[in-house]
Amino acid sequence: MECNYFGVCGSCKLYELSYEEQVQKKQLYIKELFESLHVKSFETFTSPDSHYRNRAEFRIWHDDDGMHYAMNQIEKKKVVLIDKCPKVVKKIDDLMTPLKRMIESDEMLRRKLFSIEFLSSTTKVLVSMLYHKKIDESWDIHAKKLEDTFGIAVIGRSKKVKRVISDDFVIDELHVNKNLYMYKIIEGGFSQPNSSVNAHMIEWATLHVNNPKDLLELYCGHGNFTIPFAKQFNKVLATEISKSSIKSAKESCEMNDVTNIEFIRMSVEDLTSALKKEREFVRLKEINLDDYDFSHVFVDPPRAGIDEKSLEFISQFETIIYISCNPETLKRDLEFLKDKFEIKNFAIFDQFPHTDHIESGVILQTHQA
Ligand SMILES: C[S@@+](CC[C@H](N)C(=O)[O-])C[C@H]1O[C@@H](n2cnc3c(N)ncnc32)[C@H](O)[C@@H]1O
Repeated sequence: MECNYFGVCGSCKLYELSYEEQVQKKQLYIKELFESLHVKSFETFTSPDSHYRNRAEFRIWHDDDGMHYAMNQIEKKKVVLIDKCPKVVKKIDDLMTPLKRMIESDEMLRRKLFSIEFLSSTTKVLVSMLYHKKIDESWDIHAKKLEDTFGIAVIGRSKKVKRVISDDFVIDELHVNKNLYMYKIIEGGFSQPNSSVNAHMIEWATLHVNNPKDLLELYCGHGNFTIPFAKQFNKVLATEISKSSIKSAKESCEMNDVTNIEFIRMSVEDLTSALKKEREFVRLKEINLDDYDFSHVFVDPPRAGIDEKSLEFISQFETIIYISCNPETLKRDLEFLKDKFEIKNFAIFDQFPHTDHIESGVILQTHQA
């Protein structure tokens, strides 16, 4: 990937290395970090070298020359003004300049705009515009023109205000294991930023399911993995803390005709305590937790990893599939599990080229299994 802002823009740190060298650097890091856990080999799933990010957030900078997209510089204290970002998918790339021109020429849309966020799917681009001023119905008329001109969905946000012109979500299509899945992805909710690597992650995780009964999924987001997993298991119980992600997950189930998933809006810590029968929750009164016979647990936690009580709880099941966006907390959690589990497979998914972030996957099986 070529970029005019390499070495200045804080978004890319590994700009001096070719893509192959970046991957080798990440492989070496993982090899050394997990040596003590006897991880001898791992698969690596690479990304397209450019145009791989389906979402992006830019600051908006105003000066005498007009309005500009901006990113923090590597030293953080300054910004760099940019015209383009070769990391973003073509749909966002093609939209950035004409969208900026139209906003710039419209006082209502331009004034006090401080950030623009893009979320692209196979069907549409959603653009969120963030303001340091109150916006109301008069703003909607101008935003509607943006929607009509570019065929996009536009949202305006200012303090305590969210104005949705048409939709605050996109429908995304993903091909996994030769099946087509449809997902509703809501603005502001978590979604995997690199669609091509995301498809590899789901394929890899589903490929490593053996002797399935029921699945317990923790940190399920909008059902990204849950819906493809549902084909393999009798029943799935999935939990997630974000209300809007759970709502999207349920709607995505309907779009995909999936009926064997129970999504619960609850923290992992609370759900594990309910499953251990330590506490009762009104939210679970319609669900018979004793109906489940979990053979597998799938976890995809945030960077902080999994809390000890939940790790202790999931260690009673035969197989754990762990997707992690932070190798350090992954290592900490694997150290905790190592007496009961064997690491059967390990993989690196390069979701974040040109940065030092690494996504990994681990299949753990109880020693006696
Ligand atoms: C790395 S994301 C993974 C989401 C999903 N697996 C996916 O692929 O889109 C982690 C998710 O965990 C959720 N989360 C964070 N802390 C949580 C907690 N304590 N209990 C339940 N969910 C939590 C976040 O809202 C987020 O959706």
